[in-house]
Amino acid sequence: MQQHYRPTYHFMPERNWMNDPNGTIFYEGHYHLFYQYNPYGDQWGTIHWGHARSADLVHWEHLPIALYPSNELGEVHCFSGCAVYDGAEPRIFYTSIGDGERNAATGAEQWTATSADGLLTWTKHPDNPVLTSDLHGGLDIREWRDPFVWRQGQEWLMVTGGAYEGKGCVTIYKSADLLRWTFLNFLHIDPEVALCECPLVYRQDDRYALIYSPGGIVKYLTGTMSADYRLVPDAQGIVDHAGWDGYYAPNLLIDDRNRCILFGWMPDAARGEFQDAAGWSGVQALPREMAITASGKLAMRPVPELRELRGRHSGQDELVREGGQRIAGAQSKAVELIAEFDLAGAAAPFGIGVLRSEDGREQTRIVVDPAAGGITIDRSESSLSPLPHKTPIAGGFEAENGRLKLHIFVDRTTVEVFANETACLSARVYPMLEQDAGVSLFGEAGRGALIGFDSWELNGVQFKQAAQ
Ligand code: FRU
Repeated sequence: MQQHYRPTYHFMPERNWMNDPNGTIFYEGHYHLFYQYNPYGDQWGTIHWGHARSADLVHWEHLPIALYPSNELGEVHCFSGCAVYDGAEPRIFYTSIGDGERNAATGAEQWTATSADGLLTWTKHPDNPVLTSDLHGGLDIREWRDPFVWRQGQEWLMVTGGAYEGKGCVTIYKSADLLRWTFLNFLHIDPEVALCECPLVYRQDDRYALIYSPGGIVKYLTGTMSADYRLVPDAQGIVDHAGWDGYYAPNLLIDDRNRCILFGWMPDAARGEFQDAAGWSGVQALPREMAITASGKLAMRPVPELRELRGRHSGQDELVREGGQRIAGAQSKAVELIAEFDLAGAAAPFGIGVLRSEDGREQTRIVVDPAAGGITIDRSESSLSPLPHKTPIAGGFEAENGRLKLHIFVDRTTVEVFANETACLSARVYPMLEQDAGVSLFGEAGRGALIGFDSWELNGVQFKQAAQ
């Protein structure tokens, strides 16, 4: 395994496979992140819950594995879920996947566990499962999984993902004591997709955001909830345009400052047959602060705590002209960029190249098409190797007062782009260059449209190891 492919300031386990963030919760001064984890290899399998915590969303401490499949109870995987705290004891809910025999009898089940030692170890409830598909009466809900629970007034509400009559569905339940649950309704059915995974609900005043992962690009709806527990959407959008090649299965928490923080999994699927970065798989995206805007869009920005990583700064004055483009001062594979553009005079596409080798043969381009309101991460030249995925990640953006602000984070094999905070695009790329990489501005960006530019080389973070 070659270390120069390993991200330097994003959270990931030391080795092996990681997928969805699970059970994200702010508890007694720490942000806790659990995650789908295979301790035995860098491929998906034997799914446990890994665990880490952080006081500042930047420096993470690895903690011992939190959940093991209880083979003696016929359980083979602990799938995704959530954590809640009712003031008495912290509790997690997750989907228990059984062996062939148990599955044939009952299918997926929702289980719960509590912790008496500050979230380190978990005791599974003796009466698991707490929810079985019997709750649905005659409704045949398939792929039923990924519980997400929140408190609303006097009651607890839970959503789970699944498939119903070939369409993606999100079901909703309520409980007074977190143990006995009643099925209420389909919160949402999406006829455009076959399955909804990892549903999340965020409530801001009287508005709701429902986020779900339908096997590709993560979607959201915002609106109100009817008296019979159906979402009545008045806006919709895409959480991140990457899908499998950069962002999937987010989870969220509300912290002590009442901020909603969104976590997400950046899969390594895009590396395809490219084996140089083997030994691990999966990175957690940078935590994002999320809110519902007046127009019902989700606004997302990287948490301000990340400024702590900033090292050497270089600004607009330090851009050096070279041919048809300008080269920025930052020379690193771990950089943060903030670039602002005035779109009035910009007609032709322009953009920023990152992870650029000195000879320019490798680079990942973030291309803005001002006329079409489009933004793309162009990976066609991201790697000299033909093996990693090279399809573009494309989305749209909305100009704000005729301007576009791009906030970009690069960490060796990750690229995260925030465009005016309402469009996000992430990507995984696998540049072969071993030396430091450059940043360039091309097209109008190298000329008139650019009205602000800052770049920082970012310092890596050494994550604290779990005490054994
Ligand atoms: C999403 C997902 C979840 C499931 C978990 C299994 O990536 O498929 O629906 O709980 O991963 O690891």
